[in-house]
Amino acid sequence: MENKSCKTIAIVSGKGGSGKTMLTATIAKILDISGSSVLLIDADFGTAGLTYYLGLNEVNNISVGLTNLFSNIEKTALPYDKIIEPLKSYNNTEFIGVGDHRRYKENGESSFFHDYFDKFISQIKEENRYDYIIVDCRGGIDDESLTVCNSSDEIIIVAETDTTSFQATQYLVETLYDNGVSDKLSGFFVNKVFDDPTILIRNGVVSFKTRCLSSIPFDLDAIKSFIIGEVPKITNIYTSQIWHGLKEIKSFENIAEPPQHKLDRKQFSIFSFRDRNISLGSYFISSSMFLLISSVVFSLIIQGVNSVETLSILVLCLMLSVASISDGLKKSIGRMFSSIFTLFTPKK
Ligand SMILES: Nc1ncnc2c1ncn2[C@@H]1O[C@H](COP(=O)(O)OP(=O)(O)OP(=O)(O)O)[C@@H](O)[C@H]1O
Ligand SMILES: [Mg+2]
Repeated sequence: MENKSCKTIAIVSGKGGSGKTMLTATIAKILDISGSSVLLIDADFGTAGLTYYLGLNEVNNISVGLTNLFSNIEKTALPYDKIIEPLKSYNNTEFIGVGDHRRYKENGESSFFHDYFDKFISQIKEENRYDYIIVDCRGGIDDESLTVCNSSDEIIIVAETDTTSFQATQYLVETLYDNGVSDKLSGFFVNKVFDDPTILIRNGVVSFKTRCLSSIPFDLDAIKSFIIGEVPKITNIYTSQIWHGLKEIKSFENIAEPPQHKLDRKQFSIFSFRDRNISLGSYFISSSMFLLISSVVFSLIIQGVNSVETLSILVLCLMLSVASISDGLKKSIGRMFSSIFTLFTPKK
């Protein structure tokens, strides 16, 4: 009997590079932390992004995967156990990579994929091993992604903020409608946002005919994690925004609560391009300068000229203005404050 509570979620985008792979790994992390068991599948036979990303730190062997499974097909049972890898930094999440995807089209495995992917998903569900199966698809809708969407319970779209991405996403949605899978749409994430996303969301809801789950800021810490093959930290604003988005979907309503508040639309410019520690350092320096200059003006009005006091405050102001030129110094000050905030932030 198929396990009805196990949900399969396809992550798709109209255009490559929108952030599907990092989002897929982060969704799995959130579910894993919430106590669910998860199977992550890389079905991007083009770039195999998730396979290479997790191959950096999380899995030992990325040489086998779906390609092997569908080339060595057994009509009765698919021996998928041989291609499953546990993820090291997750508690209860496993992974199936793409395998040697160069072989995929050459050897005709693609037709096996179309014929057997649905059976493969049903077989996994029957074994009651996972609460969720999350499938990372290729950017732009191809035949494999449509096959995955057909076998999934939910489809999540990732769109970037630019016009190209919006138009490509619209094309993707129309293709999903044409193929009769639009009723599976859970909504879309707007990714790499660096300004108030209100208008983007409004346009997205109309163009993509589905709701916006959440907006994810353009986040430097997230990129840094991606470069070194780490999944963004659970405390990152990037992860938190995805978490809030997931809570909008019925299949995920029982997962744990996000550790941070959802970003207010006006906060997007603050949490973007600039390093957050540099911004914190800048706030510290400008507010200190404001206080010092106000105290000089105040003491001049109340006490008249007191040369020693005024001079020392002016020297302090001068030092702070020199400090404000250096991003390195601002970053150090910001880091110091971040660590202090972290110490005093209650952990859930
Ligand atoms: N919110 C974000 N802020 C900043 N950079 C991001 C964000 N999300 C993703 N990125 C960066 O965008 C790049 C592409 O991300 P990713 O590989 O996840 O996209 P993708 O949609 O899977 O791409 P592909 O279509 O090639 O598989 C990576 O460098 C990643 O770090
Ligand atoms: Mg990818």
